[in-house]
Amino acid sequence: MQSTISKNNTKFIMSFGKMPLANKFLDKKDFANEKFYDMSVGFDENLSLFQLINFPEPEDMFDENYAFLSGTSEFMKLHFEKFANQIKNLMKKSNRNKKIIEIGCNDGIMLRNFYDDKNYVHLGIEPSKNVYKIAKNQNLNVINEFFSKQLSSQLREFEKKTDVIYAANVICHIPDLKDLFLGIENLLAKDGLFIFEEPYLGEVAKITSYDQIYDEHIYLFSLLSVEKISSLFGLQIIDAIPQLTHGGSMRYFVGRKGQHEISSNVKKFFAIELNQKLDQFETYVKFKNNCENSKERLIELIHSYKKKGKSISGYAATSKSTTILNYCKIGQDLIDCIYDTTPLKINKFSPGMHIPIKDHKYFLKDNPDVSLLFGWNHKNEIFKKEHLYKKNGGIWISHIEDLI
Ligand code: TYD
Repeated sequence: MQSTISKNNTKFIMSFGKMPLANKFLDKKDFANEKFYDMSVGFDENLSLFQLINFPEPEDMFDENYAFLSGTSEFMKLHFEKFANQIKNLMKKSNRNKKIIEIGCNDGIMLRNFYDDKNYVHLGIEPSKNVYKIAKNQNLNVINEFFSKQLSSQLREFEKKTDVIYAANVICHIPDLKDLFLGIENLLAKDGLFIFEEPYLGEVAKITSYDQIYDEHIYLFSLLSVEKISSLFGLQIIDAIPQLTHGGSMRYFVGRKGQHEISSNVKKFFAIELNQKLDQFETYVKFKNNCENSKERLIELIHSYKKKGKSISGYAATSKSTTILNYCKIGQDLIDCIYDTTPLKINKFSPGMHIPIKDHKYFLKDNPDVSLLFGWNHKNEIFKKEHLYKKNGGIWISHIEDLI
């Protein structure tokens, strides 16, 4: 598939090579049928939009076996509780019953916060059947669909009446941004807000966290790109707040043009982004060089431990790990296994490089000499949980320079 919003305008930056679907953890019997695509990224200078050039069909990614459960991290549970409280505070001004929609509500981790509140009429939209069922079983009002303009026109109760549409780590997954924004525009009340948070391009460029790029992350946004896209649909960015989640994210607040006061953050981050040259192609040529250096550095580091006879494992079978492992061609000859907490991943194999996934409860018992931290964005939570590892002489490493 290709992006619709910037067809023909995307300038090629680099290819990360042949890539499998990031979240398709598989059994041995499925190795022969595994799907791959060429993971190349490009930049649309008109929209300041960083994006995948080709990507798989969403139906192949968000199916009945989708392996990502939002509720697996304690930090994320708290994060979503705070996010919900922020929305409730923003909405306090109006005393009417509020209509709220979550696009991509996953297992209901955030929507749950609105379920008990009689001031809200909520709706979750979730395309992956297995995670939709988890949300549904908690009596949340959810539908098992992909969000689209067409779907928005069937939601009569919400058309032009929705106070808040929010999404967390979802908008960058939606290939047809034009259709998405038309749907948003169709649902938002006059003073409604579209609030979404996504891994932030500014941070990815700064720390070379190229592992934020994988099939599901079609776009990496900045304020500049969100403003340019919003303006095509009579919308504008009115606030933005950085988040610590996913290794550096941004929460964007978008409303109808002229309906809201613009926060000073918007001006501040526009200036920061222009200073970082996030609107210029040359920045991404540098990014390409940084990715290549990062790859070289990680391979050398792993080989140096291997030469000393050390055992090496991975920690947290994140989607991000699929990009690192396949780009750097790190297989089971270098890494014995990856420890993880997700039942859907345990005892399966990692996409592409086929490294076994092992239950994290064996981590301290196995005690690998060196651990490559794929869940680097959960560093504090993981280091706290596994504090005995380092105490017993274990070594943490990361593909991100100076992280540890
Ligand atoms: P996340 O960064 O959300 O992954 P992604 O790159 O897919 O967005 O991390 C989720 C994965 O990390 C999930 O497979 C569970 C694993 N994990 C652990 O194994 N232990 C932990 O303590 C945490 C927080 C996550």
